[in-house]
Amino acid sequence: MTVRRLRLIGIGPGGPDDLTVTAVRALNSVDVFLVADKEAEAGRAGTGGLVAVRQEICRRHSTGDYRVIAVPDPPRDRTPEVYGAEVRDWHAARAEAYEIALLEQVLDGETVGLLVWGDPSLYDSTIRVVERIRMRGRLDIDYDVIPGVSSVQMLAARHRIVLNVIGGPITVTTGRRLLEEVAGGAENIVVMLDGQLACSKLSGVWDIWWGAQLGTTDEELVAGRLPDVLPQIEKARARAKVARGWVMDTYLLRRASAGPS
Ligand SMILES: C[S@@+](CC[C@H](N)C(=O)[O-])C[C@H]1O[C@@H](n2cnc3c(N)ncnc32)[C@H](O)[C@@H]1O
Repeated sequence: MTVRRLRLIGIGPGGPDDLTVTAVRALNSVDVFLVADKEAEAGRAGTGGLVAVRQEICRRHSTGDYRVIAVPDPPRDRTPEVYGAEVRDWHAARAEAYEIALLEQVLDGETVGLLVWGDPSLYDSTIRVVERIRMRGRLDIDYDVIPGVSSVQMLAARHRIVLNVIGGPITVTTGRRLLEEVAGGAENIVVMLDGQLACSKLSGVWDIWWGAQLGTTDEELVAGRLPDVLPQIEKARARAKVARGWVMDTYLLRRASAGPS
């Protein structure tokens, strides 16, 4: 069976120097990078900025010769009725697109790099997609995962906070699930993937530590009591979007009664 060696490299949340030394070494072992071309997906203009960050990282940190293969990303329904099923179908389609690229455009013996935003373990499909390629059985995939700084770590560092209260748990969730988690008793919550600021619907007394474009030159930070700082967050979010054409934000919410930090 054809063998392909893959390296899944966490590149941090957007700052071109926020990679580990191990990640830089891994970059330099790569012959060919596979890059998902998200602008092939209708209505996703602006994601080219994310490709530009990856290119800048390679330009700064990779000293060797490498090729880049852009793999058009399969179209995706972002407001599906059945969310899990839609995501699984999309993983399957992406696995097939990557498999074709690995079979047709990569030479035997070459090392393939996949640059993963933030850390590969957190709200990222790359590991699942690579596992799917393995399961399809046409390629013998040998891969490793190099951790990266996640946007959650960057948020905590920028605000100089510890994510948990002493001895307490942390919930990491999406904007879509925030209200459910709160109804279930969560009081110390990191929220990602929230295009709508779901926290604006919360009742009760909460503190928020919010950050957008963390690690980049357009970084925005706001902290304080909800809802006092919500207007400030909305303005900062709009500014961030104007600066780059896209906005990625993450925040920690803590019920004011949750305990000492
Ligand atoms: C698909 S997830 C990828 C998370 C990534 N694997 C990580 O470790 O940060 C995308 C979400 O991560 C968060 N995110 C990623 N980069 C960010 C950044 N530079 N600033 C703030 N939030 C970011 C946002 O919540 C965004 O909606």
